[in-house]
Amino acid sequence: MLHKSRLAMKTVDVPYWHTRSEDGVILPAFLDEDSVAEIRARKVLPDDIFVASFPKSGSTWMKSMLMDLLKCEVPMYSVYPASYLNSLKSPRIFKEHLPLHLLPDDVRKCKVIYLVRNPKDVVVSYQHHMTLFSIDEYSENLNTLVELFCSGKTQFGDWCSALRDWCFQDQIPSLLIVSYEDMSRDCFTTMKRVLKFLEQDVPDEKVREVVENSRFEQMKKRDLNYVPGCPSFLGKGAMTDDKKHFLREGKVGTWKKHLTVANNEKLDEYLRRDMELFLKIKDLDI
Ligand code: A3P
Repeated sequence: MLHKSRLAMKTVDVPYWHTRSEDGVILPAFLDEDSVAEIRARKVLPDDIFVASFPKSGSTWMKSMLMDLLKCEVPMYSVYPASYLNSLKSPRIFKEHLPLHLLPDDVRKCKVIYLVRNPKDVVVSYQHHMTLFSIDEYSENLNTLVELFCSGKTQFGDWCSALRDWCFQDQIPSLLIVSYEDMSRDCFTTMKRVLKFLEQDVPDEKVREVVENSRFEQMKKRDLNYVPGCPSFLGKGAMTDDKKHFLREGKVGTWKKHLTVANNEKLDEYLRRDMELFLKIKDLDI
């Protein structure tokens, strides 16, 4: 039975819109200052696992496979009520989009998988995501969205800052970087790498089965983002509704058919603003 904490009461059925953290990070409306303070004060267990990413980087896909491989009961998100999260068996897996500095300090002591995806595909996927909520500011015009993205004003903040903080500041000793592109190229080998990092011994046969059951078309039939009684961002059916489906195309490089030349140049300029990070991004082969 789930406990209806203040956080849960506030989030269920509240329209998805944005607010700002104390230091100006744009967040979904339900993550107001009190909620972020509550999350930041939460107790982290040493064997908690964090799957962190900027939104639209394939986190639902990774979460789904890890749940099946590690036999977790439900998908988890730090925004769920603490009483609920505390009732779950270890190891708990958290899917996380919040910037590292807004999370409890002890997250740094846990195993973290950081999912990264070509930011151009992230932007295109983000636009689709916003159409699910009919948020016109983001969804009507890709030019506006690109502008907002390049100034760190889409939800959960700046893409480059997130990547730098999670992956390139030596804040997390136990870190594995996985790209959406890796998962698309060879999901089996990628998941073997993930399991090795997590020190989990799962037979190849099982890994193959899970990878197969998590293919795009299979995932489309499952309602993975909906947990009864928990904060619901998309509502029941969002993973199974054919007209407005959470899963859009599930491919690498679709930005090439959606972004204009000007959008592309703007994003290149944004990425090159921090040359050191830009070179590291190239190493990630995304
Ligand atoms: P597209 O919009 O490009 O299709 P997140 O879960 O982090 O929000 O990421 C969503 C993106 O991952 C969407 O990208 C979605 O379609 C894609 N995705 C989810 N499951 C997938 C799967 N099994 N295979 C390939 N892509 C998947």
